[in-house]
Amino acid sequence: MDALTIIEKFYSPGTKLYQILIEHSLIVTQKSLEIAQTQKHLNPDLEFIQKAAMLHDIGIFFTRSDAIGCRGDAPYICHGYLGRKLLDEQGLPPEYGLVCERHTGAGITKENIRSNNLPLPQRDMVPISIEEKIICVADKYHSKNPKNAAKKTTTLQIIEDLGKIDQDHAKRFSIWAEEFKI
Ligand SMILES: [Fe+2]
Repeated sequence: MDALTIIEKFYSPGTKLYQILIEHSLIVTQKSLEIAQTQKHLNPDLEFIQKAAMLHDIGIFFTRSDAIGCRGDAPYICHGYLGRKLLDEQGLPPEYGLVCERHTGAGITKENIRSNNLPLPQRDMVPISIEEKIICVADKYHSKNPKNAAKKTTTLQIIEDLGKIDQDHAKRFSIWAEEFKI
């Protein structure tokens, strides 16, 4: 399975969105592999991480986000589970879709979806496998929005930002950041 071939079924090379998606996905892949080096005792699957990190945001084109050139209809928060649906439909092993579904925020709990009335299916979307956790964490260190390109993202800043959304997100992220020594 070649991640770029799948991406290019849905994104046209030369478009702003393609460029933003590829650049972000490459940065997240690199960061994920760096984090994986700190977790050798858990034996993370590096080949899987490389492909899944490239595909984690494949669902963004279903959503509306003018800043990065997404022209779909769904709210941006839906890009994770819609990406899962797409990869499942492409016949990929379910682990790939789960990385998409579980990478937004620091994962989203069913309770969080319910209490905040989020436009998401009512199920837990929190990273479980080591590969899911690594990609979710790595993703928080780079923003796709060109406005934030020059901004250096720190672990403390991420925890602060997640805390503004939900203290549970901040707590989960803090635990992982400590485990991953970042
Ligand atoms: Fe991402």
